[in-house]
Amino acid sequence: MLDTQTIQIQKTANSRLSAVDFNNLDFGAVFSDHMLVIDYANGEWQTPTIVPFGNFSLSPANPALHYGQAIFEGLKAYKNEQGDISIFRPLANLERLNLSAERLCMPTLPEELYMQGLTELLRLDADWIPAVAGSALYIRPFMFATGEFLGVRPATEYRFAIITCPVNAYYSAPLRVKVEETYVRSVEGGFGFSKAAGNYAGSLLPAQKALEAGYHQLLWTDGKTHEYFEESGTMNLMFVINGTLVTPALSTSILAGITRDSILQLAKDQGIPVEERKVSVAEVMDAINQGTLQEAFGCGTAAVVSQIVTIGYQGQDFDLPPVSERKYSPLLAQLLDDIRTGKKTDTHHWMVQL
Ligand code: COI
Repeated sequence: MLDTQTIQIQKTANSRLSAVDFNNLDFGAVFSDHMLVIDYANGEWQTPTIVPFGNFSLSPANPALHYGQAIFEGLKAYKNEQGDISIFRPLANLERLNLSAERLCMPTLPEELYMQGLTELLRLDADWIPAVAGSALYIRPFMFATGEFLGVRPATEYRFAIITCPVNAYYSAPLRVKVEETYVRSVEGGFGFSKAAGNYAGSLLPAQKALEAGYHQLLWTDGKTHEYFEESGTMNLMFVINGTLVTPALSTSILAGITRDSILQLAKDQGIPVEERKVSVAEVMDAINQGTLQEAFGCGTAAVVSQIVTIGYQGQDFDLPPVSERKYSPLLAQLLDDIRTGKKTDTHHWMVQL
């Protein structure tokens, strides 16, 4: 077991903390003073370091820039009114990071190295964790190949790092989304289940086209037939049909969202019927027409829940019940928030205290 003495810490001499307006934070645009950096070389993880947030120096032949061995995660830490700090399900993120790493031929990260590096970083930048209701510290762990070569093969050197950003409650306006039937985010057998940078790069053009067509985002469908829903933009997708919470079952083309998993668990706790299965576009269109589709929403770490109010399908817009009439997703989002703020007992032991 690595002990924290082995983390080399270089504190910043110029904290940017006093210049930050914690009530007006652009998501992912303000970074805390320090970052964790751990390099991988000679088949092992090297001494972890915490250094002032700053640029990396990379070779122009860095293989991640050319062949895309780059993965990331997203999670949040919270501070309550008493100043206690907790992290939401950090080990679930590590588990997914390591699945992504295996899929992209990258080294996995041991639990103690990740947890000690993360907790030490949060202790050092504890003043950056907002205590305002709804705000949080967004934590971005990531790993990429380093070194200098242009051969197409897995790299032998990597860098794992964690940077953090204070964020306000992410208000997502109700979304108009379009069913995507031309482009695909991922295919069965691909790496859509991993949080690989390339998945996001490939989604930018279709998302831009959806925006040009008057939609905020798109609903991804399966790569083979476009008959089944997969995800919503960069989030998992959920529907409430006739009182049942329905979501596409996980597969190699769908990201195993931690918010997705938490919402499903909370719904089960509430006795709400939950179905994880294939969800066809035809079924949802039919439910809209029958009036049995009560809610549709995306869920993810950043926004938690993003309501969908209009679905564009084959040139026609279908309006869903107004957000003010929705009961399920607001309840589930509130329960999640109550666990994070300590108002509700954390029966699933999701919060890790710092
Ligand atoms: C999330 O919703 O948390 C995401 O994964 C989107 C992120 C890339 C900002």
